[in-house]
Amino acid sequence: MPYIPSLLMAAMASVAVSSTSLEASADVRSTSQGKETLIVYLSRTGNTEAVAEMIQELVGGQMVPLELETPYPEDYETIVAQVDRENDTGYLPPLATTFPDIQAYDTVFLGFPTWDMQLPPPMKSFLSQYDMTGKTVIPFNTNGGYGVGSSFKDVSDLATGTRIREGFSVRGGLERGGIYLAIEGDRREEVRSQVRDWLKRIGLL
Ligand SMILES: Cc1cc2nc3c(=O)[nH]c(=O)nc-3n(C[C@H](O)[C@H](O)[C@H](O)COP(=O)(O)O)c2cc1C
Repeated sequence: MPYIPSLLMAAMASVAVSSTSLEASADVRSTSQGKETLIVYLSRTGNTEAVAEMIQELVGGQMVPLELETPYPEDYETIVAQVDRENDTGYLPPLATTFPDIQAYDTVFLGFPTWDMQLPPPMKSFLSQYDMTGKTVIPFNTNGGYGVGSSFKDVSDLATGTRIREGFSVRGGLERGGIYLAIEGDRREEVRSQVRDWLKRIGLL
């Protein structure tokens, strides 16, 4: 779990366990369950991952965390500066996660936090690397309270030739303010009911 500041590791033990047990390579041919729906997500402090888990519990699908060849720094200020630079230069960080059989999926949920008020660079890498033509793409987001920024529009700009469904966004943590995993306990139940309403609204439940 290279993304997660070591100070958080103890508090986030359950997140760490679930993520490390996943392979970096998503070979859908090896699974028989939910092979038509992919839930690919980026999560540093577990909030977006919590929403991904809810989606999987409600509609099924294969959850795959996006990981980088060179993980982001743990320090918050350092990652903010790096992400700023990447966005300014259009740098697409190479992914460690691979999707050998992306064409097996017809529905792709894309989960990401708002970073720098836009789509995080690793998700831009994913959408630039893989052809989503013909698929249904469904974005979901957590953020520090400032909303999705341009991230949903960034998805529609990059995922050309797809059918993009209404996205879901909810307040997650605010690392800058020392709030890491916020979607837990009662808040988790509250968010789960919002996720359920959204999935019903878009006809998936
Ligand atoms: C590099 C970085 C940039 C961020 N930029 C924003 C932002 O522009 N707007 C916002 O509301 N939150 C921002 N956040 C906060 C995250 O969106 C929020 O904590 C989110 O819930 C984190 O999701 P995660 O726990 O799945 O990593 C930023 C966090 C990081 C690490």
